[in-house]
Amino acid sequence: MKNYAFFTGILVLLLGVVSQVKATTEKTEVSVDPRLRPSGQWSAFTGGNANTPPMGWNSWNAFRTEVDEGKVMGAAKAIVDSGLAQKGYKYINVDDGWWLKRRQSDSTIVIRTSIFPSADMGDGKDTSFRTFVDRIHDMGLKAGIYTDVGRNACSQVWDLHSPNLPEGSTEEREVGLWNHMPEDIALFFREWGFDYVKVDACGIADYSASEDFVSDNDYQPFEPFVVRGDLPSNDVAAVEGLYYDLSKTLSQVNPDNDYILSICTWGTANVRSWGKNYGNLWRTSEDIRSSWESMLHVFDSAVTRALFAGPGNWNDPDMLYIGHGDFDENHLIEAKSHFALWSVISAPLMIGYDLRDAPRSLLDIWGAEEIIAVNQDRAGNQGVLAYDGENSQVIVKSLRNPSEKAVVLFNRSAEMTSVTLRASDLNMNVETPISLRNLWLEKDQYRFEGEKAFQLQPHESLIFKASGERQLTKGLYLSEMPGRINVAVDGVDELTLDPKAHRKLSLEHKPDRHGSSYRQHYPGFGGPRINVSPYGDSITLNGEKYRNGIGVLANSRLEVKTLSEFDSFSVVVGMDENTPGTKAKVEFVVYGDGKKIASSPALGIKDKPLALSANVQNINIIELVARQVGEESSPVVVAWANAVFE
Ligand code: GLA
Repeated sequence: MKNYAFFTGILVLLLGVVSQVKATTEKTEVSVDPRLRPSGQWSAFTGGNANTPPMGWNSWNAFRTEVDEGKVMGAAKAIVDSGLAQKGYKYINVDDGWWLKRRQSDSTIVIRTSIFPSADMGDGKDTSFRTFVDRIHDMGLKAGIYTDVGRNACSQVWDLHSPNLPEGSTEEREVGLWNHMPEDIALFFREWGFDYVKVDACGIADYSASEDFVSDNDYQPFEPFVVRGDLPSNDVAAVEGLYYDLSKTLSQVNPDNDYILSICTWGTANVRSWGKNYGNLWRTSEDIRSSWESMLHVFDSAVTRALFAGPGNWNDPDMLYIGHGDFDENHLIEAKSHFALWSVISAPLMIGYDLRDAPRSLLDIWGAEEIIAVNQDRAGNQGVLAYDGENSQVIVKSLRNPSEKAVVLFNRSAEMTSVTLRASDLNMNVETPISLRNLWLEKDQYRFEGEKAFQLQPHESLIFKASGERQLTKGLYLSEMPGRINVAVDGVDELTLDPKAHRKLSLEHKPDRHGSSYRQHYPGFGGPRINVSPYGDSITLNGEKYRNGIGVLANSRLEVKTLSEFDSFSVVVGMDENTPGTKAKVEFVVYGDGKKIASSPALGIKDKPLALSANVQNINIIELVARQVGEESSPVVVAWANAVFE
């Protein structure tokens, strides 16, 4: 935590210097936290090729380390032959298990040619994935590879029985990026021609000197930056620093920008908040397993994080497990729910099944075109919980066409349940008809006014495209454009674990290698949310509940891409009654391209909320800053309610 503060401090200073120049006309703000000064810019990561969530296939959930060339090429061929490639699945990604060693004479990584024969260059020493990647490219697909940000990979700790572990001396088995980042990344992208890299983190998490397997296997110990299940011991700054370096290296090695960086720190080290600054997708949780509870758990880790995703940057609740265990061909209700949920929250769609022999029923799920279209909608708005009950949920995703919403009604439980969809969930008029298109059946199915109740089978989900008359005759609610919002500063000072991702009690304790247990910690709780407070309660300002808005902690700054598309902005601001900290006051400032365009005086918990409005013609970036005035030991919750761009 200390390191985190230090790293953040440095960032703050740097940003401060930049914004000081811009803020010379605003002398009164000099004492303010520099991170809250307007940048006039979009500060999330814009590199890489992920305007929509990446789609493809990955070897891990199908084969773990027992991957080989035949299996991967078989998947590539099936993706093309089945028509899935046409529908958008284009990345064919090799996960852990492909490497043999790091050659000590020149530090080059050697591929295990016994499983990837085309990598053998025939000279008895060199190996290259170029032929393999060329073949994938020739099929009209793209290729991905896997590595670790530390010295060693995950299989070297978690799959010790694997036949495909790196071999040789301690140093030869150090196949990760640690101390070799520029060379390895250049090898993967320039020489071998890959288009995608997944970068895991076991090398900086699991190789503590105190672990027996480290000495038993002659690994070089690594004092962990990520301590699983022990949030305060995480060295967030060190982890963030490594992925920052990686992001820079990738953009240097790939001037054509045709690459994807997948960050895999399993929701630890606060990646749920900073992943968007360096990569195209970041895992929000531990590994998915083929059980219903595990799927719910990883879904929960991402569904509250809509404001952190958007074109170029996606929450990753892990790859699809369709075809296995609770999601196999005998559990199509569960498999379809898994797919609909991933689609509506704009999660990457990575198939994890042996496609050389896939039943029609599963191909039909991965290939459901109108559902894929929801996932790939170019506005890039992640779906948002409109209703969040213990057993059922309603998730609504704003689409590029403002008169349409994708909606999933979801029964989490093993009982029949009734779920009601309301016009207000969709920001649509109560008195005019709303039509619902069933996206599995690809046909218009219902028309209703006001609200409609549905009976759902155990674990069932219904996915519709809703069309109807909007509540707003003109413009968009801020809450309908999460893909255009970047959480530049989330206001979370004290990292706390996310209790929402732990609602499945039986998953609270995950056994580790020693048979004891730990609970995976995902910080980022308290970050901004759509239509609720940061802790999930209704937005409540001075006794009045607001269904629409952004709930956020004070000392936050949100950047909104308005791109000169709107004329005016209006919003109601105030302190939220759900706030643990009530002594301080908060002032709200709206900036347009770096200049103040509206502001409130400091408002306290007893003050009436205030309506602000501003002309936003010809403005590209709006920033919404909530600044705390006065000391307060607990977080202060505020809201930007009923915010509308017209
Ligand atoms: C970690 C990752 C998985 C997979 C394995 C490979 O557990 O989270 O997705 O890549 O490592 O060993």
